[in-house]
Amino acid sequence: MISRWMLVRSLVAACAAALAAPSIAQEPLKVGMVIEASGPFADIGRQLLDGARAYMKAKGDTVAGRKIELVVRDTTGAAPDVAKRHAQQLLVNEKVDFLAGFGLTPNALAVAPLASEAKTPMIVMNAATSIITTKSPYIARVSFTLPQVTAPLATWAYKNGIKEAYTLVADYGPGLDAEAMFRKTFEAAGGKIVGDVRTPLRNPDFAPFLQRIKDARPQAVFIFVPSGEQPVAFMKGFAERGLDKAGIRLIATGDVTEDGVIEAMGDTPLGVVTTHQYSVAHDSPQNKAFLKAFADIDNAHRPNFMAVAAWDGMAAIYEVVRKLNGRMDGDKAMEVLKGLKIDSPRGPIMIDAETRDVVQTVYYRKVQKVNGKLYNVEFDKVENVKDPGK
Ligand code: PHB
Repeated sequence: MISRWMLVRSLVAACAAALAAPSIAQEPLKVGMVIEASGPFADIGRQLLDGARAYMKAKGDTVAGRKIELVVRDTTGAAPDVAKRHAQQLLVNEKVDFLAGFGLTPNALAVAPLASEAKTPMIVMNAATSIITTKSPYIARVSFTLPQVTAPLATWAYKNGIKEAYTLVADYGPGLDAEAMFRKTFEAAGGKIVGDVRTPLRNPDFAPFLQRIKDARPQAVFIFVPSGEQPVAFMKGFAERGLDKAGIRLIATGDVTEDGVIEAMGDTPLGVVTTHQYSVAHDSPQNKAFLKAFADIDNAHRPNFMAVAAWDGMAAIYEVVRKLNGRMDGDKAMEVLKGLKIDSPRGPIMIDAETRDVVQTVYYRKVQKVNGKLYNVEFDKVENVKDPGK
């Protein structure tokens, strides 16, 4: 028989639990964003932050009773030590529930072991070197990989009459991935690589490299440099050195003609064919809604593929919080992320259950003028492309 005292005690305990539960649930859920918000790659940080903020403004900032809060830290550029220090501080002091952001590969690689140690999901919103997702079971990537977008371009190039090509890539992870995949796919199709150069990640002066390519007179040059300031400098040099007039055809990953900076390139990129996962010109209701939401946050810039990845990264985070009913757990979060499908502004995407890397449509695009402005106009696509680098 239960005594009166026991009954009162259990009633008190039940009331305390009932009172405590909502207060736990109402604590903000923190997303620690490690981004390149100043320095030469500040464009990347701005795109990532604006994309994430646009999602939160459009969808509301409370999920399953928890207010979502972004805690932002600036790496100031490709600075692995700074990224690591910020991530450590976010995990230990801020007790963030997710790590997110990561524009540049060296910053993502530096933080991967901390995500494992803290068992905290790390949503990679840009960094695109193939190996990143293998560095921690707590990483999920919603952006792309360089091999994923490069292989279809190499195939297209050979089929479209380019038999010999030169390659120019930034000398670090994503550039080396792009160079290797272009060579492998292009040579397998029957093409020949007639030369290759790698440009420094920091402060590259493209002039001597462009002169070397011009002197070699290749039929085409394939390039990857990280989006932002570098593609603008490259395009300027390409025209100034007269590579276009010398009839050297330019093909590139979409990082080079990205929407955020394409309007600063003059007419040089007109006609350039690229492959990538997102174009502002993509015609879909999801993209229209995204563009409107982005303009609500930032109407001074065009969003690019990074803003879309940040938008999708927030969609993934919201879905995890919803599925876990606001009660965060790193391992359970990863189970939700594995196989997750998102109806993205770029088209349908999925996080591969095995690799935690993104599977998506890769589009062929040509730079064209539409109503007097430059756009990457899609003309073909390959669906369900996995990272072939794994
Ligand atoms: C990267 O560092 O992984 C990276 C940066 C910029 C890009 C693509 C990849 O446009």
